[in-house]
Amino acid sequence: MSLVTDRSEAGIAQVEAGHCLSSSRLTLPSAQDVQVWQWDLDVHAHDFDRYWATLSMQERERADRFRFERHRRRFVAGRGELRRILGRYLGLRPEEVALGYGSDGKPFCTRQPASLPDGSSICFNLSHSGNVAALAIANGFEVGIDVEQVRPLDDSVPLEVFSARERAAFRALRESERQAVFFESWTRKEACLKALGTGFILPPTHFEFDLALHGDTTPHRVGGAAEEAAHWRVRSLPCCPACVGAVAARRADWSIVNMH
Ligand SMILES: CC(C)(COP(=O)(O)OP(=O)(O)OC[C@H]1O[C@@H](n2cnc3c(N)ncnc32)[C@H](O)[C@@H]1OP(=O)(O)O)[C@@H](O)C(=O)NCCC(=O)NCCS
Repeated sequence: MSLVTDRSEAGIAQVEAGHCLSSSRLTLPSAQDVQVWQWDLDVHAHDFDRYWATLSMQERERADRFRFERHRRRFVAGRGELRRILGRYLGLRPEEVALGYGSDGKPFCTRQPASLPDGSSICFNLSHSGNVAALAIANGFEVGIDVEQVRPLDDSVPLEVFSARERAAFRALRESERQAVFFESWTRKEACLKALGTGFILPPTHFEFDLALHGDTTPHRVGGAAEEAAHWRVRSLPCCPACVGAVAARRADWSIVNMH
């Protein structure tokens, strides 16, 4: 998205436009869509202050535990924009959005609008890497998202993220292919584990992929089972040029809708 690719101008404009629109209500996605928002976490002091004002006491305490100011500011811009967007779906002010946490830390909305039809509920997942944030919103099913800024792979590629079968496929790749395949595989696996809500409590090998297939895909095996894998879809997320991303859900028919 231009918001991410042209951070210096477009990112700020988007944040400010967002504040103007902060009270306009958003409609939850249909059951076939996952809406994805992306934004820049490096914001001006003016926007930082507005985000800070919407955070809970617990979030402010967490922000203040970051050792580096840049990381603190990015956390605040992530949670602040998360609250602003969720508030627009829920018809609440950002500070009124109530977040709870699953047993392994996955945040969820504890307050759903009373007006929602049966089976509807807002489900979301957030990811950030460097200055880039991405948020997936689904209606009635769990979703996971991961974005990563692509970095050089040194000699110590963490091959333990791969199963024995994936490792063999990775080793057979040309050197020039390895970086792209590594980050594509990593984001797929992390998005799936975040959809489950376990994160890396489960090993990345829990979700196994065919490394020769690029873009949208289905895992090859989940927990060793091909039958369970057939329920999952993983979609590649268009990001800024230096990033890769993936969105995952245990559901067959859905696609990504990019939100602006
Ligand atoms: C979830 C996890 C993979 C995220 O790793 P990360 O490198 O921070 O990756 P991302 O930027 O993609 O995701 C971070 C966001 O995922 C969300 N998240 C946190 N825990 C999550 C979980 N278990 N499942 C799904 N999403 C989770 C949060 O919104 C978080 O951002 P925020 O804290 O700024 O709001 C990693 O933290 C993990 O494995 N956690 C589970 C195990 C654990 O340590 N639990 C301890 C807390 S009970």
